[in-house]
Amino acid sequence: MAKRENFSSKIGAILVAAGSAVGLGNIWRFPVETGQNGGAAYIIIYIACIIVLGIPIMMSEFLIGRNTHSNTAGAYQKLAPNTQWKWVGRLGVLSGFLIYCYYSVVAGWTLEYAGLAIGNQFEGKQIEDFKLIFADFSADPVLPIVFMAVFFLATHFIVVKGVKDGIERFSKMMMPALFVITVVLVICSVNLPKAGAGIDFLLHPDFSKLNGGTVLNAMGQAFFSLSLGLGCLCTYASYFDKDTNLLKTTFSVCGIDTAIAILAGFIIFPAVFNAGMSLSPEDVGPSLIFITLPSVFQEAFVSAPVIGYVFSIMFYLLLILASLTSTISMLEVVNAYVHEEFHIKRSTSALIVTLVCMFFGVFCALSFGVLRDFTICGMTVFGLFDYVASNILLPVGGMCISIFAGWKLNGRIFYSELTNDGCLRAPYLKVVRFMLRYIIPPAIALVLLNMIGVF
Ligand code: TRP
Repeated sequence: MAKRENFSSKIGAILVAAGSAVGLGNIWRFPVETGQNGGAAYIIIYIACIIVLGIPIMMSEFLIGRNTHSNTAGAYQKLAPNTQWKWVGRLGVLSGFLIYCYYSVVAGWTLEYAGLAIGNQFEGKQIEDFKLIFADFSADPVLPIVFMAVFFLATHFIVVKGVKDGIERFSKMMMPALFVITVVLVICSVNLPKAGAGIDFLLHPDFSKLNGGTVLNAMGQAFFSLSLGLGCLCTYASYFDKDTNLLKTTFSVCGIDTAIAILAGFIIFPAVFNAGMSLSPEDVGPSLIFITLPSVFQEAFVSAPVIGYVFSIMFYLLLILASLTSTISMLEVVNAYVHEEFHIKRSTSALIVTLVCMFFGVFCALSFGVLRDFTICGMTVFGLFDYVASNILLPVGGMCISIFAGWKLNGRIFYSELTNDGCLRAPYLKVVRFMLRYIIPPAIALVLLNMIGVF
């Protein structure tokens, strides 16, 4: 088999991992959760989850991947040969597959909305119009599938170009662009005349809205947003060089991901409050970016329609870039597995994975239209994939990774991998291992029970 490629630079390593992390989870899901859970107080809890849960698990995924230079299933096979741990990797591949299928449907919608924004189709429309547009579009039997397919193909072509010339090069171009767009949008939004209430909402915590459910919800969100639990980052780390600083990479990725999520809040809430919308759960619910925001952008920039026009285009472009760098990582998890474990040429394995995901993606896309009434356990195909992957497989995967890195993995490998054979000083690693052993597994067990509705 051809020699395994590595990323060519340290900054490349950070940007690909950050590209996986920054996605719809930051720009769509995080503001939705923040809106529904009381603003600033939720953000504080979320940051605590990133520190307590996110950082140790991300370090673990990185060290497992870099140590083995293998796809996520192969990694456990190498570190714990002839044990059942390989199932943790395989489970990750399965979750990667499921998330890729339904995530691409929503990513496809962002393409459609970018098209609408460019065609100036939002002009003069009210929220009721946007409700109709969204209902019509998502229920259409053809268009969502076409846009989803475009997304699958774009992801495919980047991944087949290779680890360095495809994934790394693309992330190195897109991540700075994404950051610039985010900052420009924040500046426009916070300068709106009545932005103050939105900024207040993000800065002044109202702890009365918090409860146990909020905390568990923030943990789940931290997982999804950091791309943890399915071996995405483990696969990427298998392309890291020996001298990549895993600790610094972890802190950078967590920092970038959290910063973009909070900045997305500063794009959305000042605009929403400026338009005088009450924060009813429906306004900031899942329809936020396809119904509430297009109408908010209309109202916000009513006196400067050109800025509103450019703002809307940039916003959907931001979503497209963020989604694409994430779908690349999902395809790569599954692709690396098929390519290496079944000894299939990389381009062929990527094509197989893309076609299979596209097939299942069609059922997800139709879940809002012709297959609306086709339910399994009371869920549409889209709902089922989302539920099984994000609510069950990700937390289970995260818990297993934590137990593996805390208990099963040889302490020597743990410390030498994270300190590059003792070259880096990190006295806090003992605390990290303690958390992986005793704190994180029970915490995730709680999230899991909460997500499957036990509480
Ligand atoms: N983190 C990405 C987002 O915020 C989505 C994502 C990519 C993901 N890879 C993942 C989520 C792996 C969970 C696991 O949109």
